[in-house]
Amino acid sequence: MRQRTRAGAIRERKGTPFATVTAYDAAFARAAEAAGIDVLLVGDSLGNVVLGYESTASVTLEDMERHAGAVARGSIRAHVIVDLPFMSYEASDADAIRSAGRLVRAGASSVKLEGGVDRAERIAAIVRAGIPVVGHMGVLPQTAALAEGFRRRHDRAALLADAHAISDAGAFAVVLEMVDATIAAEITAAIPIPTIGIGSGNATDAQILVLYDLLGLTSEAPPFARAYADLSAAATGALRSYAADVAARRFPAALATADSRNGR
Ligand code: KIV
Repeated sequence: MRQRTRAGAIRERKGTPFATVTAYDAAFARAAEAAGIDVLLVGDSLGNVVLGYESTASVTLEDMERHAGAVARGSIRAHVIVDLPFMSYEASDADAIRSAGRLVRAGASSVKLEGGVDRAERIAAIVRAGIPVVGHMGVLPQTAALAEGFRRRHDRAALLADAHAISDAGAFAVVLEMVDATIAAEITAAIPIPTIGIGSGNATDAQILVLYDLLGLTSEAPPFARAYADLSAAATGALRSYAADVAARRFPAALATADSRNGR
């Protein structure tokens, strides 16, 4: 039985900075865990960075189930947060609980949903059903294109109300996306659960980055992201070498050396 980091243990990290990152498959889940990162988010940014969609609104519950399973199978101890995709939780508490349950069956340790005061009821319903929840406020990518856009949020009163509503509803952590850094610091001091910042300054309890931005695999990373590698250039270089070796008959070696292979 795998002993994963629990929601309660993450809640207790309030005040101690920690790194979290998105993951979409078994290979990178293993890499993140090997790096000591024990909180992974199967974000619906999957739609943008892996599936090639314009918006996360195109991502389905089936997409999230498939990738949640891959990340869960690729990790041993990590807590795997999985995004409830657009329109899988908005209509009713029953829908929200059913969708969250499907993600848990697929491998999620907890689920994340977007919205503040307006979604507190859904958070409370899922928590009552026994599934830990992470909130997400500030810029809400699932509906940003339909509503307020992707610009930084500065409305202090509304942001504080959202943070308190999410925390009071029973979420064990909350993502602050593109929230004014001073207000993000104030929210972090005001609520008892860890805040996980993205583009919201460095005073939040934790930080999250989209894996493909961190590894230099996206062509248009947001300005707040930092690339710690250039895997895009490394991949192109490796593929160019492979193509050149095949063209020159340097690959494969003339004599086959192995008489059996693994299960792939
Ligand atoms: O889907 C995602 O990757 C996210 C992060 C930006 C927090 O929600």
